[in-house]
Amino acid sequence: MSELVHTPAELAAARARLTGTVGVVMTMGALHSGHETLLRAAREQADHVLVTIFVNPLQFGPNEDFDRYPRTLDEDLAVCRRAGVDLVFAPSVPDLYPDGAPEIRVDPGRPGADLEGLSRPGFFQGVLTVVLKLLQLTRADLAFFGEKDYQQLTVVRRMVRDLNVPVRIVGVPTVREPDGLALSSRNRYLSPTQRQAALGLSATLRAGAEAAEAGLDAGAVLAAAHRAFGAVDPTVELDYLVLTDPDLEPGPVAGEARLLIAASLGGVRLIDNLAIRLA
Ligand code: PAJ
Repeated sequence: MSELVHTPAELAAARARLTGTVGVVMTMGALHSGHETLLRAAREQADHVLVTIFVNPLQFGPNEDFDRYPRTLDEDLAVCRRAGVDLVFAPSVPDLYPDGAPEIRVDPGRPGADLEGLSRPGFFQGVLTVVLKLLQLTRADLAFFGEKDYQQLTVVRRMVRDLNVPVRIVGVPTVREPDGLALSSRNRYLSPTQRQAALGLSATLRAGAEAAEAGLDAGAVLAAAHRAFGAVDPTVELDYLVLTDPDLEPGPVAGEARLLIAASLGGVRLIDNLAIRLA
């Protein structure tokens, strides 16, 4: 049975009763099999699993989907129960931000300025601020993040290193539909036609991966991915398609690399990425 708490005080009391290691999986709810894989990883690696469910207003831009973001607490609790989650923390906005929007926030620096940071100003500041708050409140030993949001995983790891946050960050591989579409809570906004067109993101990444397997260099791999995107339904608008090193650092790319894509269709923004090995 998963215990449900809403306020930081209730969380502190319930957390104090957990002995052994605690793994936290932070989510905005609308849980799908991608989230469930994180729960499984936490179950395997920690003595207790704590899930946070909070749609964080700080990380949504003024024209983004904060109001219409799916909120499905009852279904989410059923998922948590099935996954053997010990404790669910689902605060309201005033529970987490009692003084209104916080004056002091985490600066994501250069790692958060590029890619998603360019298209979504303030996004990583909002993410890191809530992640740090939730790490403080949960006092978790391990925190699990999906590679699906690869830049988020990267900036969280960097915050933990730069600010000496006492937690171990664990990255979990992306979960996909059988046809390749990366699972995302935002997929439910897509019409059947748009969902079909959205397959263009993973197809583009796969074309890049195949070019790398064929022994092509970084420039040719990226060119192959761009060519593949050229064949994608024109309703899919490309934001970026980049090949970087695994830490998203600028500079020449060789050996282990990451191919990342962001695109929107009908106002729904989708991201995906793949590990690539260059010859
Ligand atoms: P949310 O989009 O709900 O995602 C919660 C966690 O699930 C993140 O670590 C995300 O990378 C992971 N995840 C989502 N889809 C996945 C998939 N298909 N495969 C593997 N993992 C997947 O990311 C957030 O919420 C928020 O920014 C948050 C970290 C909770 C801060 O508000």
